[in-house]
Amino acid sequence: MLGREVKIAPSVLASDFGRLGDEVCRVVEAGADLIHFDVMDGHFVPNLTMGPQLIESVKRYTDCPFDVHLMIANPQNYINDFADAGADFITFHIEIEGSVENTVNLIKARQINAGIAIRPKTPISALFPYLADVDLVLPMSVEPGFGGQKFIMSTLDRIDSLRKKILESDCDVLIEVDGGINLETAPLVLDRGATVLVAGTAIFNSENPRETIRQLRGRVS
Ligand code: DX5
Ligand code: ZN
Repeated sequence: MLGREVKIAPSVLASDFGRLGDEVCRVVEAGADLIHFDVMDGHFVPNLTMGPQLIESVKRYTDCPFDVHLMIANPQNYINDFADAGADFITFHIEIEGSVENTVNLIKARQINAGIAIRPKTPISALFPYLADVDLVLPMSVEPGFGGQKFIMSTLDRIDSLRKKILESDCDVLIEVDGGINLETAPLVLDRGATVLVAGTAIFNSENPRETIRQLRGRVS
């Protein structure tokens, strides 16, 4: 079963970190449904961004739910830290060395929405065994690590296969798409059943974030 209500999650990776609290308030004001935090450890991806303390400090600025995307090698060691910091969704990558199942259970033990993300090159079928256990799946439409990249078009077929499998197995799981989402690519993923769209550059570089968020939401809402 796929949710019908479209949610827009601005990724703060594209924001001015020096004014992060204000930047988050700006996009919440503009209609953001979730705030997307890209946590990177310099091992799982060749970039370093933020930790639980930063997320905790921003939590004081808004009630908007926080969507934490862990691009880190050992997420199982940090689930409680991010839960304590105020994460409402915690998504980690299926490519980790540790146990995917245990990591999902650690997130669910904190009554937080659990998500599994997958890199563009990892076969999408790797997600299938976990569809009944998680609240969302995140097929990355760019190679994780940096904002401002071009949407990888082969993601569309991957979303199709995910959607088919979700409908077949009647699982209650959302499809979130992350990377290169803009006014051109958003309709393509919405048409295939995605309902949570992460957008960094498209929103934070917009002259009119409210209008951009409205247009990203498209006709499905
Ligand atoms: C990339 C991150 C994405 C990225 C999206 O590793 O997971 O969330 O920040 O940024 P844009 O929308 O600029 O591609
Ligand atoms: Zn992300």
